[in-house]
Amino acid sequence: MKVLVIGGGGREHALAWKLAQGVRVQQVYVAPGNGGTARDPGLKNLPITDPGALADWAEREKVALTVVGPEAPLAAGLVDLFRGRSLRIFGPTRAAAQLESSKAFAKDFMARHGIPTARYAVFSDAAAAHAHIDGFGAPLVVKADGLAAGKGVVVAMTADEAHAAVDFMLGASAPGAVAGQARVVIEEFLAGEEASFIVLVDGRHVLALASSQDHKRIGDGDTGPNTGGMGAYSPAPVVTPNVHAKAMHEIILPTVAGMAKEGMAFSGFLYAGLMIDAQGRPKTVEFNARLGDPEAQPILMRLKSDLFEVLLHASDGTLDQVELQWDRRAALGVVVAAAGYPAAPRQGDAISGLPADSADTVVFHAGTTLADGQLRSSGGRVLCVTALGDSVRQAQQHAYDALGGIHFDGMQFRHDIGHRAIRR
Ligand code: AMP
Ligand code: GLY
Repeated sequence: MKVLVIGGGGREHALAWKLAQGVRVQQVYVAPGNGGTARDPGLKNLPITDPGALADWAEREKVALTVVGPEAPLAAGLVDLFRGRSLRIFGPTRAAAQLESSKAFAKDFMARHGIPTARYAVFSDAAAAHAHIDGFGAPLVVKADGLAAGKGVVVAMTADEAHAAVDFMLGASAPGAVAGQARVVIEEFLAGEEASFIVLVDGRHVLALASSQDHKRIGDGDTGPNTGGMGAYSPAPVVTPNVHAKAMHEIILPTVAGMAKEGMAFSGFLYAGLMIDAQGRPKTVEFNARLGDPEAQPILMRLKSDLFEVLLHASDGTLDQVELQWDRRAALGVVVAAAGYPAAPRQGDAISGLPADSADTVVFHAGTTLADGQLRSSGGRVLCVTALGDSVRQAQQHAYDALGGIHFDGMQFRHDIGHRAIRR
């Protein structure tokens, strides 16, 4: 059978790599894919991005299943389009994807359903937002409403920073400012440790994936600007069985039930970003309507089940018939980013020294292109070197060993991925 993966990042390379292992899968196509999916003998890139053209192609080629990786096509309604043409696709509809695409929607939804999250208020008027900051005091978190690839969030430790963030997000040059539609969410600062809690949902049933944790800051010791994620590992020791049970019962299950009740049944990967306090109580920092990147890379390396069969069940509403099998080992992925990332990543640097993939180590590509046999960087996050090991520490050792020979000009990576798990 043919499978189509939409997207071209590290998460999509990992999805395609895992789907290609399916016993009934003959060919996995990745649209548009990247240099890594181009080189992988089990995968084929498809240079199509237009939604209608993708649906035409899937219909013509009798694709058995389409899986959407990134948030943008979900928010644009790709799943609605495919379903409207009776094409099997796994992912949330545009309405359900609002859990990620609109922070205001997500916060209001959580309030309606009693789902634990930071207290908040939504503003479109800058003066009202400034007054709120003065009344509440710092620390505070200011978030632009809408998809902002992690760049629309300012954790303000002082009131001045919060005021500046409001000016920036509601100012004349803010997206939506012209139409007067820019909105900010101002919320309570949550202290604790973050983890990524990602589940599979078929509209009604829920199957938890292995826990994971990523590292959002660019620099060692969690310093410097936020990024899409500089590395991740699975499992995350902070997600104890007790935290897991709380996350399922207080956050995930009420969310899935609430979305169904409101006529927006969620099917797809649902990602709850958790903040876990010192007492082990999780609160929802954010929802994503997709797998995490780079969390997907270590999670999928640990998945032993046939992902194609699992996602067929998920798109049929029969996830209750599935049990997932996991490798007991830990997995850890280190992102190698381009010079200038995250502000202004440089492109076009020649990449050399990639190790051969093995059963225990895989280099997933993100921002790479392959032309005339030469791999070059073409995005902010370029590679994610992912390895298994008997512990997080061993997986870390294997990943950094594999990374040792890789070179491109200006490459940057963190040297401490996994430090929180190892300290525990
Ligand atoms: P978000 O895009 O909502 O996930 O926010 C990006 C990052 O900002 C999160 O991963 C957290 O590290 C941080 N953050 C967001 N909201 C809060 C909050 N209420 N309290 C503390 N940190 C937060
Ligand atoms: N790594 C965080 C995310 O995928 O949103």
